[in-house]
Amino acid sequence: MSGFEGKVAVVTGAASGLGAASARLLAARGATVMLFDRDVDGLTRIREELATKGLRVDAMAGDVSNSANCDAAVAKAVAGLGGVDILVNNAGFGRLGPTEDMTDDFWRTSAAVNIDGYFYMARAAIRTMLAAGSGGAIVNMASIYGLVGIGSHLAYCAAKGAIVNMTRSLALEYAGCGIRVNAVCPGVILTPLIQSTLDDAGQARFADLHPMKRMGQPEEVARGVAFLAGDEASFITGVVLPVDGGYTAQ
Ligand SMILES: NC(=O)c1ccc[n+]([C@@H]2O[C@H](COP(=O)([O-])OP(=O)(O)OC[C@H]3O[C@@H](n4cnc5c(N)ncnc54)[C@H](O)[C@@H]3O)[C@@H](O)[C@H]2O)c1
Repeated sequence: MSGFEGKVAVVTGAASGLGAASARLLAARGATVMLFDRDVDGLTRIREELATKGLRVDAMAGDVSNSANCDAAVAKAVAGLGGVDILVNNAGFGRLGPTEDMTDDFWRTSAAVNIDGYFYMARAAIRTMLAAGSGGAIVNMASIYGLVGIGSHLAYCAAKGAIVNMTRSLALEYAGCGIRVNAVCPGVILTPLIQSTLDDAGQARFADLHPMKRMGQPEEVARGVAFLAGDEASFITGVVLPVDGGYTAQ
């Protein structure tokens, strides 16, 4: 199991769900974590939770769809924490709905957060990693819906498909510099995103789509993130790892 002592990790969307679970696990295994999220109250909660346990943590409020905010988060990690060794690109959202009703605004907001935000953060982290010259690891939170389709989820499926291939392209571009880029593709995981998107019947229906007949837990995804971010994955780059109870094996 990888330890992260001496490593600095920036985690986006760290105030909730999969980002919070990833931040908790990386910090518990020794990383210094920069939490980045637009939810100021949530950010404060997670920051205090980790700090109270004696874990090393800092936080920055901002929006990943704003490239200046992304640059500032990375700059804060460099100035305050000494660099960026790991980026967990996780902030994102989705909403089910018929394509014929989707507004231009929704489509653009989805792309701005779910694609642009991943690019802005990756670019900022890569610049820092290249300048430091000691490599690094980027883990992109994609989705099973970047690997297979589902109806009435067009903007999300398009964005997550983009993240899967962004992962491969970045991995190839920076493999020679020791920067590994991988993605995790979670199945449906019980987080506030799912609780706010699906009612109980919807959750049961989605749980049933997984061969393991349940939704995943955030900690199960965080373990995949930590594996790909850590030295145990030292020869792994350009990989997309489903953490999905068998969903994409069908
Ligand atoms: N929960 C699932 O079933 C599931 C499955 C596959 C992939 N994912 C992906 O995992 C990631 C996290 O999802 P989650 O379920 O933990 O959701 P969540 O809603 O619980 O948490 C998302 C966090 O991202 C933050 N965020 C959203 N937009 C932001 C922005 N523009 N700038 C900064 N922060 C922003 C939110 O404030 C929130 O704290 C997303 O990319 C999501 O698509 C989730």
